[in-house]
Amino acid sequence: MTIDATNVSANIAPTVPGNSDASRDVASYLHPYTNHAAHEKTGPHIITGGDGIYVTDDHGNKLIEGLAGLWCASLGFSEKRLVDAATRQLNTLPYYHTFASRSTNPAIDLAEKLLDIVPVPMSKVFFANSGSEATDSAVKMVWYYHNAIGQPEKKKIISRKKGYHGVTVASASMTGLPGNHKLFDLPIDRILHTETPHYWREAQPGEEEEDFATRLAEQLEDLIQAEGPETVGAFIAEPIMGAGGVIVPPRTYFEKIQEVLAKYDILFIADEVICGFGRTGRMFATETFKLNPDMITVAKQLSSAYQPISALFINDKIYQAVKKGSNEVGTFGHGFTYSGHPVAAAVALETLKIYEEDGIIEHVRNVMSPFQKRLKNLNKFDHVGETRGRGLIGAFELVADKCAKTPFDPYGAAGKAVSDACLKEGVILRALGDSVAFCPPLIITESQINDMFDAVEIALGKWEATL
Ligand SMILES: Cc1ncc(COP(=O)(O)O)c(C=O)c1O
Repeated sequence: MTIDATNVSANIAPTVPGNSDASRDVASYLHPYTNHAAHEKTGPHIITGGDGIYVTDDHGNKLIEGLAGLWCASLGFSEKRLVDAATRQLNTLPYYHTFASRSTNPAIDLAEKLLDIVPVPMSKVFFANSGSEATDSAVKMVWYYHNAIGQPEKKKIISRKKGYHGVTVASASMTGLPGNHKLFDLPIDRILHTETPHYWREAQPGEEEEDFATRLAEQLEDLIQAEGPETVGAFIAEPIMGAGGVIVPPRTYFEKIQEVLAKYDILFIADEVICGFGRTGRMFATETFKLNPDMITVAKQLSSAYQPISALFINDKIYQAVKKGSNEVGTFGHGFTYSGHPVAAAVALETLKIYEEDGIIEHVRNVMSPFQKRLKNLNKFDHVGETRGRGLIGAFELVADKCAKTPFDPYGAAGKAVSDACLKEGVILRALGDSVAFCPPLIITESQINDMFDAVEIALGKWEATL
C-alpha cells in the first residue's frame, strides 16, 4: 500500500475562499470540540469518502484513519453488509419506538444477543443513541435504584480525573477534564473525582506499580470516608481511559478498587464505550481486566458507528428496583424517541454477526502484538516520554525532557504539531494534550499497521528536527 500523501501539507490547510464548501462550513456549522476562533481562519478538513481503514478528503488525499474516526469505525469505512442490513430494515420498518411496551424485532434480537455475549451476569439492556446518553442513563439508574430500595441519601457518584464519560450535563460532570467544565458551570454537585491511575506520570519516586495501585485504592477509600459511605452511590470507570490520554490501569488496580467498592456497597459502572467489542483483544474489557460491574455502557463499536446507538446493561438487583419503582410511579419515566431504533439495532446486530463470523476478535489478537511492538518502538525518539497501550489502542506522550518527564510549554502545542505532522504523512491520529492516540479500525492488517507507524516515525523525525 502506498499512502497517497502527495502534497498533503499544501492541500490540507484550506484558505476558506469565498463560495467554497469550507466557507459555507465556517458560516453555518457550529462544530463540536473545536476552537471557533481558529476554525474561522483555517476552515474545516472535509472528508468525502471511505474505503477500509482509509478515508479520502475533498482534495483527494487518501488517509489512514488511525483513530477509526472517534474510536468507533471498527469495521472500517466500507462494510457493505452493514449498508445492506440498514437498507433491509429501512425497507421493512424504518422507524418505530419502544415506549409503553411497544417493541420491534431488531431491538428484541439485539438485547437478547448482547445479554448472550456479556461476560458478567446482567438482566436487561436499555438502548440510547450515544455514549453520553448511556452514561447519563446510568447516573439516573444509580439515583433511581437507591431511592427505590430506600437509601435516598446514597447518591454521590465518584469518577476519576481525566476520565471521559460524555458531554450531557451529568455525563460531562463525571468527565474529569477541565475543558468540559469551564464556562459550563460543571460539574454538578454529587459528582466527585478521584485520582488518575497513570503510573508513569503520577507514581511517587521509587513507587512500584502495585504499590501505586494500592495507594490509589486507599485514596478512593479516604474520599468515601470523608464524604460518608452512606452518601456514595456509585463509581464509574473506563477500563482503559481513552480521551484522557489512553491510560492503561496499573497492575492490580481494578482488583483493589473493586474491594473498596464492595466494602461500602457502592455500585460499579464500567464505561466500555471505547473498550467494548474487541478493542482490548476480548469482546469486553470487563473480561480483560476481570471486572464485576453492576452496569456496563457501550456504544461506538456496537454498530461500527454506522448508526448512532448505545446501550446500558443493568444487573438484576437494579432491574428489580426499576420494576418496583415503575410499578409505584406507574411508569419508568426515562427513554428516548430513538431508544432501540430498528435501523440502528439491525445494523448493530449485523455488526455483532460480522465480529463472530469474520473472527474479528481473533484477528485483533493476531495483530495487537505487532501493533504494540511498533508503538513501543516510538520510545526511540528523544521527545517521546512514554508509550502505552493494550490490544489495538495506544498512545505516545511527548515531553520536553525525557528523563525529568517535563511537559512542553504550552501544554498541548506539541501534541497538535505532531498530529498535524502525521496528517501530512497521510495518517489521522488524535492529539489529547501532548499525548497522541491510536485506535485504528479493528480490521487493520499487519502490513497496514507497519505503513501507519512508518509514516508516524517520519512525522516524528521531521518534527524533532524542527525543535
Ligand atoms: C468512554 C466514553 N464514554 C462516553 C463517551 C461519550 O460518547 P458520545 O460521544 O457518543 O456521547 C465517550 C466518547 O468518546 C467515551 O469515550
